[in-house]
Amino acid sequence: MEVHDVELVMSAVDPKQYPTTGDPEIALVGRSNVGKSSLTNVLINRNSYAHTSSQPGKTQTLNFYHVESQMYFVDVPGYGYAKASRTDREKWGQMIETYLTQREQLRGVVSLVDGRHEPTKDDQQMYTWLAYYDIPTLVVATKLDKISRGKWNKQLSMIKKTLQLKPEDALLPFSAQTKMGKDAVWDWIETQAFG
Ligand code: GTP
Ligand code: MG
Repeated sequence: MEVHDVELVMSAVDPKQYPTTGDPEIALVGRSNVGKSSLTNVLINRNSYAHTSSQPGKTQTLNFYHVESQMYFVDVPGYGYAKASRTDREKWGQMIETYLTQREQLRGVVSLVDGRHEPTKDDQQMYTWLAYYDIPTLVVATKLDKISRGKWNKQLSMIKKTLQLKPEDALLPFSAQTKMGKDAVWDWIETQAFG
């Protein structure tokens, strides 16, 4: 999709605050600092529309970005933020679970993992959970600009294996820095959102 128009319509914590237009939604999940906001900015052709930060735990609410008035990206606060309090973690868990299991408009989840490393326990749990609920998932291995091209395939196979990726789910290489993978991620999103 060639994006000209994006609007952050809602930072929601409670389902009552979710948008009501009924447009399809794609959620972005991943641990804190993995690059969800950066991926969002690449997809919508902006440098800093979604707030990015080198400090983890910046995004605390579900941020609904209305794209071309046709669909929403839902930037989900990152998990695995070590400094988060237990109460915050529980609140986070409830907010995410409510959204991911009850949202009718949700068409798929883009789950980001750091392409440089083996998926963390949290990454594995998140993927297992998405698979359990049968939510169509695209795993994106990001920050690949930080490792040499010759290592990509090996990394991708390792990620697939560690997550025990289902055959119907896809894994794509990505870099917010070079924008590699942008079109492939968009293709997946458009297929999920509009069929
Ligand atoms: P939270 O909102 O805290 O959950 O983090 P986030 O997942 O939205 O991460 P964010 O997009 O803010 O990126 C975190 C840091 O990683 C920033 O300093 C980004 O510039 C950097 N970053 C994100 N993606 C890439 C990438 O593909 N390559 C490189 N080199 N850096 C990246
Ligand atoms: Mg963010």
